Amino acid sequence: MSLSHLLKDIQTIAIICNQWGDTGKGKFSDYFASEWADVIARGTGGNNAGHTVVRDGKERTFHLLPAGIAYDNLGKINILGNGMVLDFQVLSAELDDLENEGISYNNLMISKDAHVIMPYHVARDRVVNQPQKNGGIGSTGKGIGPCYADKIARCGIRVSDLFDQDILASKIKKAMLFYPEQDLNVEKTTAYIAPLARRIKPLVRDTIAELHELIRQGKKILLEGAQGLLLSIEHGTYPYVTSSDSSLNGTAAGVGLSAKAIDLPLGTVKFPFMTRVGGGPFPTELGSTASEKYCQDEEITQELELRKYEIPYEMENGKIHYDTKNEKIRDLMNSADPLQQGVGIRLAAAEYGATTGRPRRTGWTDALAAKYAIKINATSKIILTKTDAIAGARNFSVCYGYIDGSTKQSTFRTEPAFLRRVSPVYNQYEGYQDISSVKCSGQLPPSLQKAISDFEKFTESSVAIVSVGREMDQTIVRD
Ligand code: IMO
Ligand code: MG
Repeated sequence: MSLSHLLKDIQTIAIICNQWGDTGKGKFSDYFASEWADVIARGTGGNNAGHTVVRDGKERTFHLLPAGIAYDNLGKINILGNGMVLDFQVLSAELDDLENEGISYNNLMISKDAHVIMPYHVARDRVVNQPQKNGGIGSTGKGIGPCYADKIARCGIRVSDLFDQDILASKIKKAMLFYPEQDLNVEKTTAYIAPLARRIKPLVRDTIAELHELIRQGKKILLEGAQGLLLSIEHGTYPYVTSSDSSLNGTAAGVGLSAKAIDLPLGTVKFPFMTRVGGGPFPTELGSTASEKYCQDEEITQELELRKYEIPYEMENGKIHYDTKNEKIRDLMNSADPLQQGVGIRLAAAEYGATTGRPRRTGWTDALAAKYAIKINATSKIILTKTDAIAGARNFSVCYGYIDGSTKQSTFRTEPAFLRRVSPVYNQYEGYQDISSVKCSGQLPPSLQKAISDFEKFTESSVAIVSVGREMDQTIVRD
């Protein structure tokens, strides 16, 4: 693949998702991290993210660390930015994994201004936000929401606070008031955080000053987005969102840059199907509310669905392997029942949460939602991802409008009540067979080429890249 025409005169790239996350940002972050960037930075979220990276057939999932961390031998600098919320127990475990693989991490910088996820954040998130049965939004249960809530309420603990015992003690005392349901005490909480703080101390920096200096030196910068625009606290389907601004603006602010400083914002869009994990409205969901309810059931796992539909699989090092092209999966995708069709797409595309293992809800790509997201993110160059996954489906659809009562709507709105009420209007296209070894755009099936050009026209964007598989050589760069 050749990206040289895209990368001409570019110093800063951001990879930002235009849907509800899980659009394969990891594949491209890893590619630009290894082949192009000098500096890789994250600006939002924390270990709610899960970026799966495949290199030479080996799969790695990062939750906190930027993708560039695996290339320590190439001298890449990795930054966890000021806009992030950091669980140092999780970071410490990721650092242990690196040590076990013989990868050094002295190329990692942690912002002194990032906020610290404390055990009381995780505990509250698990009780209040995670369980959908009790009215929670289906968060990942990693303490993200409560930590950002404390940040906004001006009582959060910043990384730099960990190194001043008086400030730390006074903040923990304040937390005791804010978290009355928990039996907090200063000594125990300090004893928990102290060894973690000692471990990360040599990595703590004024990352904003460092990043601006690296830019001045002409270094190439990659901003690795997390979550997606439709999950943004500012622009997403509130309250079914994450607690940070996962837009281009939020991601840039999260490392101390203006979005204007990003030369090439690349936007990912899963196409022609999309997913959502956790609660919240999803107009094009196959099986609609029945699917939403089914996916909420904590019993539903990848293994259970494989067993239920008698699809052979093997377990290797805790990971499930199966043939995603199995005939039974294809039959499910072509079922007359939309709920089953959704299950078929989930199995064909292996759509199970990298962070929580939950089944991701599946449906056809919503071009209204994408147009809205692309506009806010200003990601006029688009990467379509996972396009190979639905090979074998007899036909596929893309949503270009909603019907609200008797009126047609052609713009997206974020209110859950609106999104739950409308029914999607689709363009249907003929399905295609395996495209995973196609190397150029002109060799894609005509119906898919037509769908891509319809999508470009509708969203006023240009599809620069089509991803047709997990490996980097399964990537089509369009002229
Ligand atoms: P990556 O970076 C998909 C979703 C959760 C939940 C909502 C709030 O892998 O694309 P939170 O724990 O953030 O308070 O949960 O946001 N969510 C994600 N969905 N991909 C992610 O990250 C997500 N991070 C959070 O499922 O609905
Ligand atoms: Mg993910």
